[in-house]
Formats: sequence, structure tokens, C-alpha cells
Amino acid sequence: MIDQNIRNEIIQLKKEKDVAILAHYYVDGEVQEIADYVGDSYYLAEKATRITQDNILFCGVVFMGESAKILNPQKKVYMADDSADCPMAHMADIEKIEEVRREYNDVAVVCYVNSTTKLKAASDVCVTSSNALRIVRALPNKYIYFIPDYNLAHYISKQVPEKEFIFNDGFCHVHKSIHGADIRTAKQIHPDALVLAHPECIEDVLELADFIGSTSQIIDFVEQSKFNTFIICTEIGVFYELMQKNPDKKFYTVGHRQFCPNMKKVRIEKVLYKLKIDNCETSSQS
Ligand code: 13P
Ligand code: SF4
Repeated sequence: MIDQNIRNEIIQLKKEKDVAILAHYYVDGEVQEIADYVGDSYYLAEKATRITQDNILFCGVVFMGESAKILNPQKKVYMADDSADCPMAHMADIEKIEEVRREYNDVAVVCYVNSTTKLKAASDVCVTSSNALRIVRALPNKYIYFIPDYNLAHYISKQVPEKEFIFNDGFCHVHKSIHGADIRTAKQIHPDALVLAHPECIEDVLELADFIGSTSQIIDFVEQSKFNTFIICTEIGVFYELMQKNPDKKFYTVGHRQFCPNMKKVRIEKVLYKLKIDNCETSSQS
């Protein structure tokens, strides 16, 4: 629960400075509680285009704030913590993209939204975990160079056998740290639980999953499910929304590593600090 004084100050400053707070499901529950909109990467990018306030304070990692700015250039977009950066966003390079383009005539460079703006600009299309399959399937190209995430690319490639994938070796260290053995152990302890996994997980984990989807899709699945117990294979932040929406259902992690250190840099005190300083701004994006 947020300290009442902090809550009141944030609400007051948001109004005074005409700010909308957008937060990803992986940030602290307190931040999700005070945010105007909470969602997955796709939802937040889309929501940013409909914000009526002049300023957006983004509670997530840098690529998410950048996406909001790209889609909504007339708004000022600020990060609650400018140093909250997703390491996977940097795990591809422009030279390799150019090399692949030289080698394959009929290639589409598909860029996962977890990427820098430079990588996005060098690509043909940008996707999120919730729409990647639909978009790749609809592309006319025979070859797909999917950057930066290997695991998401591999998961999509299995479902689009008519296309040939060129893989990149990027990964999310949080999702990669979950192993098939962890799931098997968790299933022994909770045999009735369904296993829900994010597609950034490794193949061993996805093979054991009952459902694979983005953070929002996992949350929607639980809400609609008749089952009561779930083993959740993604970052621990989603537990806040899962528990808010389903107080009678039970959720389990598969270990202690489901923690994104960058998302967790976004603390409620930083949200307040950013709102307090003039124009809600330090440096970063304008
Ligand atoms: P979603 O698009 O599912 O929100 O995932 C974002 C992310 O960073 C996953 O690690
Ligand atoms: Fe990046 Fe992984 Fe953190 Fe998502 S959970 S922001 S992919 S490091």
C-alpha cells in the first residue's frame, strides 16, 4: 500500500502538471496502483497515442518510453527512472542487419519492440509479444530476420513453417533463467496448476506450458480460466495485477530469479521526485 501522503502528492502534482502515468506490469505494485494506465508493451504503446494530457510519465524501461514518444511525438515523455534500460534492447547490430539484407533478397527484418530506436529504424516492421505471430504470418517475405530475441523468434518460427527464419542471439536474462527442471519441480508441488509462460522463455519451458502469451494475455487467460492454481513463468511484477483481479486464485513462481532489476528501479519515490522537479523533467526525451 502506498503511503497516503505520497499518494496525495502524486495525485495533486499529476493534475497541476497535466501528466498521465503509464506503467508496465513488471514495476512495483505501488507504482501500478498509482498509475493511470497499466499494461503490456502493446497496450501501453497504443494507449500513449490516446492520452489527452500534455505529458507522459513512463514507469517502465527506456524502450517503452521511446515507443510512446515515437508514436506520439507532440507529447513530452519522461521516464520515472532514466537508467531503467532493458539489456536485450541492445542485443542486435545494424551491421548484421545490413549483412543479412545483402545476403537475402526477400527478407523482412522484424524488430521486437524491446529494442533501441536505431534498431527499429533499420528494420521493416516492429512487433510486440502479443502481435508478433499475426504480423510475421501476414508478411509477404520468405525470409524473416527476427531481432533481438532468439527465444521469441524461435517460438514464432515453429508456428510459421512456411517461412525461413534467420536467428539473432539476443535474450532476456530474467526469462532465460527459468528452466524446464524448475517447472517440473513446481508441478510436483502443485500438480493441479496450469503453467503460463511468456514467449521470451526458453523452448524447454514453453514445451511444458499450458498457455504462452504476453503479460496482458497471461492476465486475461487467468481471468477467463476455470482453474484456480497457476505457475507463472514471467517477471514477478505481474503477480500484483493477477492477485488484484483474482483474489481467490493461487499463483506460484518457479524460483527466486523472476525479477527484472531494471523494472524494479522504478520506485514510487522516484515517480514523486520526477513530478516534483520543474516541468517534470531532468534531461532525457523532449
Ligand atoms: P510484454 O510485451 O508482454 O509486456 O513484455 C515486455 C517485456 O519486457 C517482457 O520481458
Ligand atoms: Fe528486458 Fe527481460 Fe526486463 Fe523485460 S524482463 S525489460 S525483456 S530484461
